[in-house]
Amino acid sequence: MTKFFKNLYKLFLLNTPIYIIIRFIKNFLPNYKTKRKSLKIENEIYKNFLTVNKDEKWFCNNLYFLKKNLRNFNGVENILEIGSYEGRSAIFFLEQFVNSKITCVDTWSGSDEHSNKNFFEVEKNFDKNLSSYFKRLTKFKIDSKNFFITNKKKFDLIYVDGDHSCEQVDIDINRSWEILKKNGYLILDDYLWWYYKDLKKNPAHPINNFIIKNISEFKNLVVWKQIIIQKK
Ligand SMILES: C[S@@+](CC[C@H](N)C(=O)[O-])C[C@H]1O[C@@H](n2cnc3c(N)ncnc32)[C@H](O)[C@@H]1O
Repeated sequence: MTKFFKNLYKLFLLNTPIYIIIRFIKNFLPNYKTKRKSLKIENEIYKNFLTVNKDEKWFCNNLYFLKKNLRNFNGVENILEIGSYEGRSAIFFLEQFVNSKITCVDTWSGSDEHSNKNFFEVEKNFDKNLSSYFKRLTKFKIDSKNFFITNKKKFDLIYVDGDHSCEQVDIDINRSWEILKKNGYLILDDYLWWYYKDLKKNPAHPINNFIIKNISEFKNLVVWKQIIIQKK
């Protein structure tokens, strides 16, 4: 509960618009204490998952929230993921949308929070974890900035979970918005990730600015630890 108030306080300090705060509060109770439900989904999806650290399950805490919110998503065929790591989120989306293909973009070299990580092993695990999905996977080992420069494709669903610095989140979400199809879905991870002491350097700040600028083009906006947006 205290975490909830800490998050709320930080969102207020960032001058987060009230319509975002209300959505966050509204989602708090239904997603409070859903770890057990997420664990059940985790056990079904990641049976032989290889990892460098079994405690690194950032994505798994969102499984119940995501499954619940994605259950009525239609027409998801082409997915783009910025930031894949060992493939947990990629596998989730491939399992959720069984007729989809995914494009995974990652440098496999980490960012600020990944010091002392063996990214050679991380990438090797990604390749093995995704090996049974190889027909549905396109892998780009490249900086997202360069991916957006060369990419010409449009996507039905884009998941942004790459470099979490303010500047890069700003680039990733704005470029993603340009290549998201009408009625498509944009999912942003780590809205409530407070790694940097200066609050404005964390993802919530560029995400708030993006929402304020583009809200008239949204069909739907869900706010929790992750943000889900549907484009008109
Ligand atoms: C939090 S991890 C992604 C976790 C993954 N989505 C999951 O849920 O399992 C962030 C990833 O972003 C990658 N990354 C960092 N900076 C990047 C950039 N500029 N472009 C593309 N990927 C980047 C890192 O190498 C790392 O694998």
